[in-house]
Amino acid sequence: MKKIAVIGAGTMGNGIAHVFAQNGFQVHLIDVSQDALDKGLAIIANNLDRMLAKDKISISDKDNTLSNIIKFIDLKSGVSGTDVVIEAATENLAIKLKIFKDLDAICDSNTILASNTSSISITQIAAATKRPDKVIGMHFMNPVPIMTLVEIIRGYSTSNVTTKTIMELSEKLGKTPTEVNDYPGFVANRILMPMINEAIETLHHGVAGVQEIDTVMKLGMAHPMGPLQLADFIGLDVCLSILNVMHDGFKNAKYAPSPLLVNMVMAGKKGVKSGEGFYDYSESKKAEKISSQFEN
Ligand SMILES: NC(=O)c1ccc[n+]([C@@H]2O[C@H](COP(=O)([O-])OP(=O)(O)OC[C@H]3O[C@@H](n4cnc5c(N)ncnc54)[C@H](O)[C@@H]3O)[C@@H](O)[C@H]2O)c1
Repeated sequence: MKKIAVIGAGTMGNGIAHVFAQNGFQVHLIDVSQDALDKGLAIIANNLDRMLAKDKISISDKDNTLSNIIKFIDLKSGVSGTDVVIEAATENLAIKLKIFKDLDAICDSNTILASNTSSISITQIAAATKRPDKVIGMHFMNPVPIMTLVEIIRGYSTSNVTTKTIMELSEKLGKTPTEVNDYPGFVANRILMPMINEAIETLHHGVAGVQEIDTVMKLGMAHPMGPLQLADFIGLDVCLSILNVMHDGFKNAKYAPSPLLVNMVMAGKKGVKSGEGFYDYSESKKAEKISSQFEN
């Protein structure tokens, strides 16, 4: 395998393109937005510069990586001649079902179609195609060049051959692929999101403040980052949407999103991307606004 297509040049797509290109693959990076493609490439160049400054790569590594990436707006030209397509477009069921239906119609019948979705059912995505055995989840973690896990999600019909191929492909990137089955939240988010939700409920019930909750989990549990700060980095809207998928999928109240999380998302406080979540990213840290939301 030499040629890979990545659909979506946002946070995850540009990271995935970066690691494939740095490992010698030719990457076709596809997005509906020219601006997203340009920004994605600029982010990759910037990240490579940082690696260069830390002596982790050479100038020729940087040049080779960038020259391995070609940008495409048109899906059909972008996927032409590629062995694997990795979809990392916006987390929206309708968008993903349309992309996979189109891919099934235009890609070679042997091409494996992978999705980087955080929460949408791989089985449901695969059902939009006539090749469900060749559809699989390839869930990279953010930031992709740094995080070594790839959660490999087998849909109901994903074949052993497809799984083996994608596990081996992930290893070629220096990652550690880990195989899981397709149930809401897979493994990573099924465990992470209830923890984040419980941290938000702990804040909501006034048990402790933002800093205190994060300090307990960082110093007490040796987590590199507290759950509330992590939620800000993931995006509170993303956390809410994943919890909703698990709540709907399992019909179990334990996955019901905290009312405080719902309120914050409705108020536009989405974390780092909106400038404010549990912490204030526009000025100095300000947790006071959140304390006024305490129930008790
Ligand atoms: N952000 C994270 O921390 C994270 C972690 C793991 C997985 N994911 C998953 O990765 C996927 C992408 O997330 P992101 O954070 O990179 O999103 P993002 O919003 O940063 O980027 C999405 C990109 O997809 C493009 N796009 C939308 N529709 C398209 C289409 N039809 N064809 C081509 N491009 C299209 C958009 O223009 C945008 O550039 C989602 O499924 C998300 O759940 C995200």
